[in-house]
Amino acid sequence: MSLSTPAYASFRSIGAYIPQKVLSNSDLEAMVDTSDEWITKRTGIKERRIAATDEYTSDMGTEASKKAIERAGIDKEEIDLIMCATVTPDYFNMPSTACIISDKLGIRNVQAFDISAACSGFVYLLSLAKAFIESGMKKNILIIGAEKFSSIIDYTDRGTCILFGDGAGAAIISSTTDKEEAFMDIHASADGTYADFLVTPAPGSMHPVSQEVIDKGLNFVQMKGNETFKLAVKTLTKDVIEILKNNSITAEDIPHFIPHQANYRIIKAVGDALKMTEEQVVVTVEKYGNTSAASIPMAINDIYESGRLKYGELMLLDTFGGGLTWASALLPFAGKTIES
Ligand code: COA
Repeated sequence: MSLSTPAYASFRSIGAYIPQKVLSNSDLEAMVDTSDEWITKRTGIKERRIAATDEYTSDMGTEASKKAIERAGIDKEEIDLIMCATVTPDYFNMPSTACIISDKLGIRNVQAFDISAACSGFVYLLSLAKAFIESGMKKNILIIGAEKFSSIIDYTDRGTCILFGDGAGAAIISSTTDKEEAFMDIHASADGTYADFLVTPAPGSMHPVSQEVIDKGLNFVQMKGNETFKLAVKTLTKDVIEILKNNSITAEDIPHFIPHQANYRIIKAVGDALKMTEEQVVVTVEKYGNTSAASIPMAINDIYESGRLKYGELMLLDTFGGGLTWASALLPFAGKTIES
């Protein structure tokens, strides 16, 4: 490519890994003081997937990556950067899960690292991939959102254990000269004022592993659910309105609105505020729960595998998570339409 030819980032393929074990609402009824009726009414979640004891974040990320690489029709040797978004890495904090995934895929001598942006991680990675490609530094980037959230959940805390699940999604982002295939826009932001809304206090430099950490359960997720809910609806809606306005696109022009899958009530409130129809809004929360950084790529994979997502169709991604972080992206699907 000559220096005068601009390089654009394109979303070349998607893959996901869904753990086998199902944790249903009735399973949770036997574990904490809750009910299928309460969980369904307040969250829309019916079940979530839980990774096996000996199945780690890198294993799920590797399986999702294999599918994404195969579907992109590229050789793994063509990948020149691997980035993984996770808050449940194999190790706190080294080596990175991206390095372990690169080893499991047999990809050597490429830059590999993790980012921590909680549920916004995958869209944060899209913004990084765009920058790496548009600067001409990289050509084929593997991005992964993978979480073993069950490893940081207290299954005696009914406020959190009903919400989260495990899984992984991955995508290949490639350089293209075709503007029709290019990402249109990405917006990623954060506000640490709300850092205490979603916290895993340990392990970290503030709370290294100790008997006190174990006794107080500081290694588990702590969440201000109601406050997070309200802020999520407000931020997600505002973010989508802004990105659509900045690109002179109306909500009805979007065939696939793919919001972070945290709670059906949040998704519904945002979809209604934007006057989106049920056909436009992608919902997978009922079967996977909230899989954090894996939520958006798993949802994209769902509509891809069902044949709903076709080459050239516009996706609007919108996410929100611990930090607090949020991000939205407007981009066409530039992969091959699945054969039915
Ligand atoms: N089963 C039964 N009752 C439950 C319960 C459960 N699993 N969890 C909480 N309750 C109870 C509360 O104790 C409270 O009882 P009280 O009125 O007697 O005090 C009542 O239900 C209402 O609690 P509240 O926290 O106000 O409920 P809510 O409608 O806000 O729903 C969440 C709770 C967690 C489902 C909801 O706030 C939520 O989804 N928040 C966003 C979380 C999120 O998305 N986090 C990740 C962001 S990426």
